[in-house]
Amino acid sequence: MVELRGDLGAGKTTLARYLLQALGVTGRIKSPTYAIVETYSGSQAGYGLVGSFLAISHFDFYRFNDPMEWEDAGFRDIFATAGLKIVEWAAKAHPLLPPADIVISIELRHDESRQVSITLK
Ligand SMILES: Nc1ncnc2c1ncn2[C@@H]1O[C@H](COP(=O)(O)OP(=O)(O)OP(=O)(O)O)[C@@H](O)[C@H]1O
Ligand SMILES: [Mg+2]
Repeated sequence: MVELRGDLGAGKTTLARYLLQALGVTGRIKSPTYAIVETYSGSQAGYGLVGSFLAISHFDFYRFNDPMEWEDAGFRDIFATAGLKIVEWAAKAHPLLPPADIVISIELRHDESRQVSITLK
């Protein structure tokens, strides 16, 4: 699980879009703010595995406030299945979420530049 941290508007979804595109996702990449999750099939061809696909789920838990939804919306199943999970606002789904493998923190500075730090857990 890759956790994207940063304030509102820091650039988490934007970074996720580039990451998804780099993993071979084509077409429109929506912010998962309303649906909480958007799922994709990444093509790993760029990594030499022609014909192999990677299941990717992009979450935004900003509006998540009902723990029942974890079960009902199938989030538990997604996390129990192989594939890449990219998560915005992970703290809002604590303690249901598994711990992150990689944390990418984005800080929007006053001059509009972004400072990004990556931590491998
Ligand atoms: N690296 C960047 N350079 C310039 N503009 C950026 C960059 N990253 C994001 N933006 C712009 O900042 C705005 C907010 O970006 P984005 O939606 O990715 O933020 P977010 O962290 O996902 O916000 P939220 O917490 O609401 O989900 C958008 O208008 C986007 O185009
Ligand atoms: Mg976002």
